[in-house]
Amino acid sequence: MRQEKKPLILIGFMGTGKTTTGKALARRLGLSLVDTDREIERKTGKRISELFREVGEEGFRDLESRVLKQVLAETPGVVTTGGGIVLRPENVRLMKETGWVVALYASEDEIVRRLAATSDRPLLEGDVRQRVARLLRERRGLYDFAHFRVDTTGLTVAEVVDQICRRL
Ligand code: S3P
Repeated sequence: MRQEKKPLILIGFMGTGKTTTGKALARRLGLSLVDTDREIERKTGKRISELFREVGEEGFRDLESRVLKQVLAETPGVVTTGGGIVLRPENVRLMKETGWVVALYASEDEIVRRLAATSDRPLLEGDVRQRVARLLRERRGLYDFAHFRVDTTGLTVAEVVDQICRRL
């Protein structure tokens, strides 16, 4: 059960629906919404792909960790995150301590299908299916610390939001 006032943090691999679910959830609950990637872009004036090119993945992870800290210090409502936020143990600790964390999952096929049509995901350049399979393998278990987990495969956004709201 989430304590009132604790931010609701959505984590999950790319393509598990964090952004769409976050928007619908914030609307349903009348809460504010912050997305760490959009916040990074707003602060730097650059797109995620540009940042990867200019400062590399580690530089991006530094920015991401800094932004997560700032966002969580501002007692937000719903926070959506980039799929790699869980790669830094200090981010995991901070999210677990300050928020109520919901992990979204989806099957590999569903993730590939959802991501095939998108752009500006530097880690997926090249063969999307191969890149997804490899990253899923590398990140296995990293999202499982969440307080609550939802498999979004085959669910509508409203159904995912219902599942989360039932647990609040
Ligand atoms: C990343 C996920 C992306 C974005 C960046 C890196 C990752 O966010 O932060 O491209 O490492 O999984 P989404 O999960 O919103 O696609």
